[in-house]
Amino acid sequence: MESGRRHPRPFGFRPARAFTAPWTSRRHCLNLIVHAEMSRAGWYDDDPDYDYRRFWTGREYEHAAEEVALRRLLGRDHVARAVDVGGGYGRLSKLLAGYADSVVLVDPSRHQLRLAADYLRAESRVECRHADAANLLLPDASVDLLLLVRVLHHVPDPRAAFTEFARVLTPGGKLVLEFANGANVINRLRLRLRGRSVPAEPISVAVASSGTDTKIPYVTHSPHRVLDQLRAAGFEVDAVLSVSNLRSARLKRLLPLPVMVAVERLLQPVLGPFWFGPSIWLRLHLPAGPLRPAGDLRSPGTTADSSASDP
Ligand SMILES: C[S@@+](CC[C@H](N)C(=O)[O-])C[C@H]1O[C@@H](n2cnc3c(N)ncnc32)[C@H](O)[C@@H]1O
Repeated sequence: MESGRRHPRPFGFRPARAFTAPWTSRRHCLNLIVHAEMSRAGWYDDDPDYDYRRFWTGREYEHAAEEVALRRLLGRDHVARAVDVGGGYGRLSKLLAGYADSVVLVDPSRHQLRLAADYLRAESRVECRHADAANLLLPDASVDLLLLVRVLHHVPDPRAAFTEFARVLTPGGKLVLEFANGANVINRLRLRLRGRSVPAEPISVAVASSGTDTKIPYVTHSPHRVLDQLRAAGFEVDAVLSVSNLRSARLKRLLPLPVMVAVERLLQPVLGPFWFGPSIWLRLHLPAGPLRPAGDLRSPGTTADSSASDP
C-alpha cells in the first residue's frame, strides 16, 4: 500500500491448496502465475490498472539505497535456492537472481504476479508463486536465503511468518528482512516532544500515509519487538543497516543522485545500531544446530542489541 489510491477494499485471503514439487520444476514466471485457490490479496488486487512500478518514479534514491543495502548484506553469498517473499512485481528479484541458482518470487496478489511475469520475462532463473508469508507452501528446510522487503508494514503481527521462515530455511540459512521503523529518529523526536516514547506495538499509519480509509494493514514496527519475535522463531542477527537515511524531498532536489547514494552508502552501517532511518534492514541466520523451541528469547549480543536505542 504505497500510493494514494482511492477506496481500497479489505485485505484478506484464504489458505491455498498445496503446490507440487516446488523446487523440482523450473518453469518460467509466465507459466506459473496461478497455482492455488486463493482469494485476492486485497488492496494490491483491487484495481487492475494499478501498477506498483509507477510508485518508484521519483524514488530513484530510495531504490538505489535499497540495492546498496541488499548487495551489502548479501556480500559474496551465492546460494542454490532463494525466495523473495512478497516480491511484488519483482523489483528486487532481478538483483537476487545474481546471488542464487534459482529464485522463487512469492506473493498473495495475483495482480502483482501478473506484473512480475512481465517484468521478469527475461529472468529464466526466477519463477513466481501464489502464496503468503505465513504459508509459503514450500517443504521444510528447502530454502537457503529468504528476502522480505517492504512487506512487514502489511503484517502487524509477523510471528506466524517468522515461524514459517524458520521452517522452510535450511540450518544456517539466511534471512534478509526490512521493516518500516517506528523508532526512526524523527518519530522519536516527535514523540519526545509530547512526553511519550515509541510504543512496542505496531503503529498504524494507514490513514496518515494514504488519506484513504484503506483496510489493508499499514504499520511501522518497533525494532525491539521485531528482534524479539525473530529470536523467538530461532533467528540470530548478523547485521543491521539504517536505510533511506536521506529521504527528504528537499535533499533530493539539492543533491545529485550519485552524491545521495554515496553518502547513503557510508551512513547505512553507522546509523543502523541507532535505528536512525525510516527503514531498517537486518541480515539474520538460523543456527546450524538443533532448532530452539519458539519462545526462547536469547540474550543480546549483536550489534543491533547492544546499541539498541528504541526508547
Ligand atoms: C510494497 S510491495 C513490495 C514488493 C517488493 N518486495 C518490493 O520491495 O518491491 C508489498 C508486497 O507485499 C505483498 N504482501 C502483502 N501482504 C503479504 C503477506 N502477508 N505475505 C506475503 N506478501 C504480502 C503485496 O501483495 C505486495 O506485492
